[in-house]
Amino acid sequence: MTGPVTGARRSAVTATAMLILCSALLGACGVPRYVPVSAPDTRTRIFLSRKESEDLRRGMRSYLESIQGIVDAAGENDMARVAKRAEASGMGMVADVSPAIITRLPPQFIVLSIDTHHKFEQLAVEAARNGSSGRTMDRLRGILANCTTCHSAYRLAP
Ligand code: HEC
Repeated sequence: MTGPVTGARRSAVTATAMLILCSALLGACGVPRYVPVSAPDTRTRIFLSRKESEDLRRGMRSYLESIQGIVDAAGENDMARVAKRAEASGMGMVADVSPAIITRLPPQFIVLSIDTHHKFEQLAVEAARNGSSGRTMDRLRGILANCTTCHSAYRLAP
């Protein structure tokens, strides 16, 4: 294909490349294990610029907004809205990540991060096709396990 690459196509290409990278990394290094909050704080510190930290925190808050929206909509059996809220944190977000930040993040962090976006994407696709509140809660459980696993393993350096 020789036509201009649209934003949407570029996002899809980046997201696919990220998924392949993610699978390779997953095989190479595995993912961190969940450690309860009550345990001593042994989280790995991540060093980012102020702007990168702000971007990361903003992305986190939109995860949380998605979850609130998904739970709200699932409670009302509104699967179209579940899909919309989940899509907001789907693979499209990965395409916005700057390549520079990736070089400063531990591989396992990137794996968990991409896997989380992928899980939101899967939830969105399923909700739009033939979803139910029960299936949504199942998938949300997997997503929340990623949130707590990563938070128990990493923190931003002050
Ligand atoms: C790949 C790792 C990773 C995953 C997955 C992850 N987080 Fe985070 N999150 C972090 C880190 C690191 C911080 C910064 C913690 C610190 O140092 O204060 C953070 C901070 C946050 C914050 C605080 C934002 C702020 O403005 O300070 C919220 C809210 C949050 N995460 C929600 C979530 C939710 C909800 C999920 C799951 C859908 C999630 N996170 C998944 C790594 C992750």
